Amino acid sequence: MIRLRNVSARAARLLVLSTLALGACRHGGARQTVDIGTYLGGEALLVAAEPVFAQHGMVVSNSALASAAGVEILKQGGNAVDAAVATGFALAVTYPFAGNVGGGGFMNIHLADGRNAAIDYREIAPLAATRDMYVDPATGKLTNKSVIGHLASGVPGAVAGMAEALGRYGSMPLAKVMAPAIRLARDGFLVDSALFRSLRSNRAVSQFAGRDLFYPGGEPLAPGSRLVQAELARTLEIIAAKGPAGFYQGEVAEALVAEMKRGGGIITLEDLRRYKPEWRTPIRSTYRGHTLLTMPPASSGGITMTETMNILEPFAPLPRFGSAGYAHLLTEAFRRAFIDRNEKLGDPAFVRVPMDQLTSKTYAQSLAAEISRTRATPTPAFKTGTEPEHTTHYSVADGKGNVVATTTTLNGGYGSGVWIPKAGFFMNNEMDDFAAQPGAPNMFGLVQGEANAIAPGKRMLSAMSPTIVLDANGKVLLVVGAAGGPRIITTTTQVILNVIEHRMSLADAMRAPRLHHQSLPDTLRYEDGAFSAAVADSLRAMGHALQRTGGLANANGIMRVSGGWIGVREPRSTGGAVGH
Ligand code: DON
Repeated sequence: MIRLRNVSARAARLLVLSTLALGACRHGGARQTVDIGTYLGGEALLVAAEPVFAQHGMVVSNSALASAAGVEILKQGGNAVDAAVATGFALAVTYPFAGNVGGGGFMNIHLADGRNAAIDYREIAPLAATRDMYVDPATGKLTNKSVIGHLASGVPGAVAGMAEALGRYGSMPLAKVMAPAIRLARDGFLVDSALFRSLRSNRAVSQFAGRDLFYPGGEPLAPGSRLVQAELARTLEIIAAKGPAGFYQGEVAEALVAEMKRGGGIITLEDLRRYKPEWRTPIRSTYRGHTLLTMPPASSGGITMTETMNILEPFAPLPRFGSAGYAHLLTEAFRRAFIDRNEKLGDPAFVRVPMDQLTSKTYAQSLAAEISRTRATPTPAFKTGTEPEHTTHYSVADGKGNVVATTTTLNGGYGSGVWIPKAGFFMNNEMDDFAAQPGAPNMFGLVQGEANAIAPGKRMLSAMSPTIVLDANGKVLLVVGAAGGPRIITTTTQVILNVIEHRMSLADAMRAPRLHHQSLPDTLRYEDGAFSAAVADSLRAMGHALQRTGGLANANGIMRVSGGWIGVREPRSTGGAVGH
């Protein structure tokens, strides 16, 4: 990180514009970028994708300003949970396409004294939700109402979840950790090229309230302009003063429900009043002497990663990175784990999840034994859907060795597109993560079953996989997770395998081209550079349908190294690793 002091507003504006001129990174683009999103109060941060080392603490997120908010709290003596909550609220301001108070997420916590905890603040289906609410009765086909507009939202969990995590494991009051976010909303920040491009490519959002703020004069906010979010600042101030009651009751809740009523949504004050986050026990598994702490349902991430790695473990050592043998084994392991995921997983409050079986090494060995080393196991194909890129993962470490991995989302970019007037935030479109019509693909092309059908009060199955890896001595090695729907699971697994199995540095592990297979569609997707032409030919000959694709997911990771932490933000995207 290069820190520029006393940069004038004009100079900062020029820097932002020069970023744009550099053709700064598209998600999935081959280009690296210098990402300047971060001018505030006479100081600009220039954050590149290079690994950042720091002795005491580290925050890595998709917004350098939000990472800096977390580090500000660390420097004031806050612990990793304090910093994670500060980062989470700051992301709601500076990264509005995924950071949120109108969505939900999962936080995975490992404390230096050995305690582990996970909190699930996933959205839930409103009480008035019905199983077939997105099926057109006339045609029997799915509508797009689970994706865009007022009906697409689950009851938000982010505020309740972050406040609960802070109350149990943080050391500071909510108002203190929210202060940087409130400042960013109230005083504003300079729009960077990433925010500009994301608004430009999500124009559907401009049909909702909020268009005057984000599309002044009908055009996306220009890079270098200052975005002040007065209504959001006020909402955050109310939450800071009253805690979750400031969001789930009173004027913010009333503004949310009024907008729902106006637009045909179904979330009520009763839905908001009843929302509760759930403490979960992280799934604890092992891989070649390392311990993985992963997220249990209502996320599928932990079970699917554990099952995949358990299937791979008997193949020791795995074939080398970039070989046909490795891509094949990885694909076959993912395929099998996703078949189980898509059929068997759902909210444990509603369905019996066979967690013991799916995470058992014996079961995985039986699946591993079925894998041919020379032939793909075919599964029926179907057409995949579109893929938005708007979840966000952040990783936090403090000087004592406490670490936090958090993934949070609105689901699609800017969620449902619905922005709450007077309260100033976007609502999620998480309802699309349900199997809105079991057997029909959702927007990630995931074909899921009855276990994930819609029911009032139920959590929709997630792929979010905030993960902590401990080394053979039980010390933190990695804090990692990703955005990208089902590609979260495959990407997080590959970053971990790259470090543990292929002995890569974190920077290499994050840059290495990725693969993805989710059982259906039966396609092995790969990023540019993942294979040589000869390897691609071998994979085709084994029966794999290959599809080259842009960036598969968006990860942010931290690795413990001698004397401190290395932070690496997603090289395919924007953000910042900020340490101290
Ligand atoms: O919870 C899930 O699995 C999805 N709602 C995540 C969505 C996502 O990652 C979108 N894009 N990057």
